[in-house]
Amino acid sequence: MSETRPAGTRSPLAEPDWRYIERTSLEDFTAGDWAAMNLQRSPYMAVEPARQVLGMLAAQKDAPSFGYQINNYEHCLQAATMALQDGADEETIVVTLLHDLGFVTCNDSHGAFAAALLRPYVSERAVWMLERHMYFQTIHCPTYPGIDTAVRERWRGHPWFEWSADWVRKYDIASIDAGLESAPLSVFEPMVHRIFARSPEAPPIPA
Ligand SMILES: [Fe+2]
Ligand SMILES: [Fe+2]
Repeated sequence: MSETRPAGTRSPLAEPDWRYIERTSLEDFTAGDWAAMNLQRSPYMAVEPARQVLGMLAAQKDAPSFGYQINNYEHCLQAATMALQDGADEETIVVTLLHDLGFVTCNDSHGAFAAALLRPYVSERAVWMLERHMYFQTIHCPTYPGIDTAVRERWRGHPWFEWSADWVRKYDIASIDAGLESAPLSVFEPMVHRIFARSPEAPPIPA
């Protein structure tokens, strides 16, 4: 298979009865072009985000580990399996599956990465936890060099403190165990599609 797209070859359309916009610069688009494309954009965006997110996770399946018994893909599946077996609601299961999606590629900001990805679709509580989950972990890692095990204390008393602390303790810190078998990604795929099918809330324009 060719590594590059030969000039003149178009990407396939998602649906056979859709059409391409023939203009090749955004500056030349007419109002009619935008209207025609937006008709196709809506159904596309209803299904494609979930499909691509699942692809981003699946791309990590065979990645090596830097020391953990299982790689980040397996950690995500194992954590989500724990949430599933614990009877967690579907949103929590999906949040758990995707909480470390950017752990390798965006390590220092991987909580914010997951929060930005899921914010349009999930509760403020879940977003709050995703942004802070690495700081709620430190109390469980007292031998990590230079760690501040009390960093989470700045949020004690917040309405979502206990829920976040429980989530980390139940699903995140012990889902690195090669001795456990996880549910396959296919079990979670319909859940991801249902969460991403929620009407997304557009983020505010930055100040
Ligand atoms: Fe994490
Ligand atoms: Fe994690």
